[in-house]
Amino acid sequence: MFERVAAAPADPILGLNEAFAADTRAQKVNLGVGVFMNDEGITPILGTVKEAEKRLLNDETTKSYLGIAGDAEYGRQVQRLLFGADSEVLSNQRARTAQTPGGTGALRVAAEFMVRQLDVTRIHVSNPTWANHGNIFKSTGLEVTAYRYFDNDTMGLDFAGMMEDLEQVPANEAVLLHGCCHNPTGADPSAEQWQQLAELAARKGFFVLFDFAYQGFSRGMDEDAVGLRTFTKAIPELLVANSFSKNFGLYNERVGAMTLVASDRFTADSAFSQVKAIIRANYSNPPAHGAKVVAAILKDDALRAEWIEEVAQMRHHIRQLRDLMVSKLKERGANRDFSFIAEQHGMFSFTGLTGEQVKQLREEYGIYMVGSGRINVAGMSKGNIDAVCDAIVSVL
Ligand code: LMR
Repeated sequence: MFERVAAAPADPILGLNEAFAADTRAQKVNLGVGVFMNDEGITPILGTVKEAEKRLLNDETTKSYLGIAGDAEYGRQVQRLLFGADSEVLSNQRARTAQTPGGTGALRVAAEFMVRQLDVTRIHVSNPTWANHGNIFKSTGLEVTAYRYFDNDTMGLDFAGMMEDLEQVPANEAVLLHGCCHNPTGADPSAEQWQQLAELAARKGFFVLFDFAYQGFSRGMDEDAVGLRTFTKAIPELLVANSFSKNFGLYNERVGAMTLVASDRFTADSAFSQVKAIIRANYSNPPAHGAKVVAAILKDDALRAEWIEEVAQMRHHIRQLRDLMVSKLKERGANRDFSFIAEQHGMFSFTGLTGEQVKQLREEYGIYMVGSGRINVAGMSKGNIDAVCDAIVSVL
């Protein structure tokens, strides 16, 4: 039967890695997939992760199954990080967390829960959004509609357009919001704008799912949670899919979580029992290692402080690259103002380069970026940034 199966198109992000690996040019640069790299072009293992792994190797006594929702300590630490240690969500025990295989696993569990238990039929996502959101939601039967988000003229957030579109969302539909470091544009709402969005959600009553994959990569651990925390004050229920791929550098360990916030702890328990039923029928229970590492770091005050410092270093590195890129493009006489790159948040920048220019950069210079013109700023280094800027200016 297999000969009847049509080949699937390459993934717009991970497919680039395969093309990049096959490219034999020495000067090639991968600005595609969102992975942090240091100035040596390496995606390092964090010092705190190495330390936690040493402790685990020493102390671990069993490889028996975790529960369906994963490690309980991990769940507690995730909630503390998302909502803050003194949050009313924690003291009133209104949240339940399932450890999931990555943020993608969390989104898939959240989507199935919305479809099966909340009778949601449509989700509204930003235009543009992460290339995989549509795949995940559509595979659970959700219809996917886009709301205005990015203004191609100002290269920033189209907040008025976003508010206007969300104003039309009915109460039985869902809205996906990026917690911070919007993927792919790097354009985030301000604290005041989050407040307005939360008030709109409260008034309209639509269901809200947060995708929170870059906590700590914009301003800081608590600062980046302002959107989510504003929403938990304004509306009684929501879901959060979060990932530790980037801020713990645990990409291949697949560490994420799906957190359900309910109006009270009894509702949280019964709703969460259905989340567990969905997980059991999918991957049964999550893999342990990455989540044990995260929990070991977050529960130890000294390791936690060290980790926050490691994330700050990654954040500063990316910020420096943003500033450097803007000044280098200017120095080279780029016929366009790229100062917006320094204003954007997180790993990604939406450069405004066309599909044709992206293709030319790949074919002529071995510089790989997503077809939409998204670059992973952290894929550059002091060693290749000049070549990248030369190439960009030459295709403008
Ligand atoms: C990205 O957007 O590059 C990352 O989230 C990695 C991925 O899985 O696409």
